[in-house]
Amino acid sequence: MILLIGSTGFMGPPVLKKLLEKDYETSCLIRASSNRSDLLNAAKSVGKKILLLTGTLQSPDSMISILKKADSVIYMVDLEYTNLLENFLDAAERSGLKRAVFISSTTVLIPQRSRVKNQKINSEKLIKKSGMDYTILRPTMIYGSKDDNNFSKMIGFIKKRGFFVTFGIGNNLIQPIYIEDVADSVTGILDNKKTHGKIYNIAGKNPLKYNDMLDIMRGKLKKQFKVIKLPLKFSKLLISIYAKISGNPSLTPEQIERMGIDKAYTYQEAIADFNFSPLSFENGIERLIKELEVKNL
Ligand SMILES: NC(=O)c1ccc[n+]([C@@H]2O[C@H](COP(=O)([O-])OP(=O)(O)OC[C@H]3O[C@@H](n4cnc5c(N)ncnc54)[C@H](OP(=O)(O)O)[C@@H]3O)[C@@H](O)[C@H]2O)c1
Repeated sequence: MILLIGSTGFMGPPVLKKLLEKDYETSCLIRASSNRSDLLNAAKSVGKKILLLTGTLQSPDSMISILKKADSVIYMVDLEYTNLLENFLDAAERSGLKRAVFISSTTVLIPQRSRVKNQKINSEKLIKKSGMDYTILRPTMIYGSKDDNNFSKMIGFIKKRGFFVTFGIGNNLIQPIYIEDVADSVTGILDNKKTHGKIYNIAGKNPLKYNDMLDIMRGKLKKQFKVIKLPLKFSKLLISIYAKISGNPSLTPEQIERMGIDKAYTYQEAIADFNFSPLSFENGIERLIKELEVKNL
């Protein structure tokens, strides 16, 4: 049995669907409070049943009996939460679980100092030391469903308001990855021994300038929209003030700083080990726009 942990978020349902399509017997560890409707819908869409098992990463004991039944785990909880990962690794050791796939992020590769980056790096170190047959995937920014916090939100905003606000002049490189390519990677490495003990960066087909991404968006949306470009330094200052006032900001100065840097990655090892073959942004965004249109969003 494959056990998904952190499956009620954005990535969970597409990964679950892909596993079920490949006939893996799959269960999900969820908290009693978690919303399970997207998981159940994903299973229903491929005519399969899944088992939802209640447990929480806050308590290793709540996971032991569940982990004993699992052959492999796909761990999708943010590695920023090192304490939750430690609890999982503790429970995994006590239950004899050997194989797990972890979803990290290319955030660990950014040059800037950041608390989140450090926590993810610490988590990766713990995984490497765990003695498990691990594989770590590091995706770039993921997009491709109504639930992504990136392009689907951007498309919704543009459709409603007819303009978009960006930070910086837009010459920096980005390489977002389509969600299906992440899900395919997970199923591609699960039973692939070549990937044990390895870390892979995964990204969209080619890097592109932020401004070029906006042009592609205009073409695919068949809609002209104005772009208001705010200077990076000024935006950082503004967001620092907002972050202090808000206490729980939806945008942080760290995120603004990251928007200005190049985020382009090679993925040669992923091609060699599991035939990784990602979509271009043009194709991925076209699919997302169609999906949102079908759902009237
Ligand atoms: N989204 C992106 O663009 C992106 C890009 C690169 C890498 N990643 C990485 O990909 C992974 C998945 O991302 P995502 O966007 O799908 O995340 P997400 O939407 O934030 O989902 C997080 C999941 O973690 C679960 N969780 C949190 N605390 C838990 C606990 N104490 N016990 C059990 N489950 C708990 C949540 O369950 P509840 O429903 O109960 O809260 C939810 O299922 C993360 O590691 C993320 O860093 C994401």
